[in-house]
Amino acid sequence: MPSARAAHKPDHMTEFAARIARTELAATFAMAARARALRAEGKDVISLSLGEPDFPTPPYVVEAAHAAAQRGETKYPPLGGIEPLRVAVAETFQRTHGIAARPQDVLVTNGGKQGIFNVVMSLIGKGDEVIIPAPAWAGYEQTVNFAGGVPVFVPCPQAQGFVLQPEALARAITGRTKLLILNYPSNPSGATISAPALAALADVLRQYPHVWVLSDDIYEHLLFGGAKHHTLLGVAPDLAGRVVTLSGVSKTYAMTGWRIGWCIGPAEMIKAATVVQATATSGVSSIGQAAALAALTGPQEFLADRVAAYEQRRDVVVAALNRVPGLSCHQPDGAFYVFPSIAGCLGKTTPGGRVIHSDNDFAMALLEDGLVGVVQGSAFAMSPHIRISTATALPRLEEACRRIANFCTALG
Ligand SMILES: Cc1ncc(COP(=O)(O)O)c(C=O)c1O
Repeated sequence: MPSARAAHKPDHMTEFAARIARTELAATFAMAARARALRAEGKDVISLSLGEPDFPTPPYVVEAAHAAAQRGETKYPPLGGIEPLRVAVAETFQRTHGIAARPQDVLVTNGGKQGIFNVVMSLIGKGDEVIIPAPAWAGYEQTVNFAGGVPVFVPCPQAQGFVLQPEALARAITGRTKLLILNYPSNPSGATISAPALAALADVLRQYPHVWVLSDDIYEHLLFGGAKHHTLLGVAPDLAGRVVTLSGVSKTYAMTGWRIGWCIGPAEMIKAATVVQATATSGVSSIGQAAALAALTGPQEFLADRVAAYEQRRDVVVAALNRVPGLSCHQPDGAFYVFPSIAGCLGKTTPGGRVIHSDNDFAMALLEDGLVGVVQGSAFAMSPHIRISTATALPRLEEACRRIANFCTALG
C-alpha cells in the first residue's frame, strides 16, 4: 500500500498554462505568511500588512443574512445579482454622484476583486496595455498579467501627492492602450483626487476614445478631515460609454469575508463582464447579497465613528513616523494606509549586520528584528516605500510606531 505522500507525488512534470507562471501572487500575502510563521514561534508580531478593517461587520447586517437563510434564500441566485441589491446599488450611486444608474447597469460580484477580474478579462487580450498609476494595489498587475496584457505603470510620486498628472497620462497612452485604472482613495497611498484634477484627466481621455476606464472606488466612504470623494463619471458624465465604476461592502462595512462587490457600467460592458462571471462562478452567494443589501439600506450612523477612529490613527501614525530618522510620511485623506518613504534608511546597516539596500530588505528586517509586519513599496510598484495598514487598534499602532522608531534609530 503506497503512503498518502507517495500517492500524491507527481510521476511527471505538469506543464501548467502560461498564465500561471506569469501571474505572481500578491506580496501582501507573502508578508502575512512570514508574520504568521514568527508568531507560531511565540514572537509578539504586530502585523500591519493586511488591508482589512479590524471592526466587526455591523450586527444588523449579520442578522439580515441569518434571516435570509431562514427564509430559504439558499438557492442559486440570479447571475447579475438579486434585484433589490442592484436597485440599492444603483440608487446609492445616483444619490451620491448625481449620475443616472439603472439596476441593469449593475453587476454584483464576488468582492470588488471579481469585478476587476471580470472587466479585465472582458477587455484585455495578449499584448493589450493597461495603464496603472503607481503606487497601485498589486491585484491590478496580477489580473492584467493573468489576462496576457501588459501593465504600464505611470509613476505618481509622493511629491505630487501620489496623484496621476494629465501630462503623464497623455504620455503613457498608445494605440495598444485599452484600459486605465483609477483608484482614489488609493491603496496603498490613501491619496484622494480633487474634482479639478479628475476633470483634467477627463480632458486627456476625451482625446483617446479607444481607452476604457475602471474607477475602483472601494474606499469611497473612508475619508478624513472633510475630504470629498470624487469619481470620474461625476465630473465627466459624457465618458459614461467607457467607464466602469467599482465598489463593494468589504472596506466600508467591514465585510471582507462576505465577498460582495459590484461594478456599474454601460450595457455592453456589463454583458461581457457577466459572461466572464457566468463562466467562473455564476451568481454571488445569496446570503452575502442579503447582507450587503442590509448594509446599504440600513442605518449608516456607525460609519462616522469608524471613520473618526481611522482618522485618529492616521494622525497618530503620521506624526510618529515623521519623527523617525530616515522616514518621510505624507498625510493621506482617505483609506486606512500610510505609505512613507524609507529613502533615508537606504544603505544603512542593522545592528545584526544586515544592509538595507531596498524596501524589501527594510520590510523583512523590520519584521524579523522589530517584529512589525509591513509591505514593501515594490509590491505596489513604487520604491523605496513601505505600506502600513492603520486598521489596527490605536495602542497596538502606537507600540508598532515605537518599534519602527527603535528599528530605524538603531540603523548605522
Ligand atoms: C484597491 C482595492 N480594490 C479592490 C479590492 C478588492 O476588494 P474585495 O475584498 O471586495 O474583493 C481591494 C482589496 O484589498 C483593494 O485594496
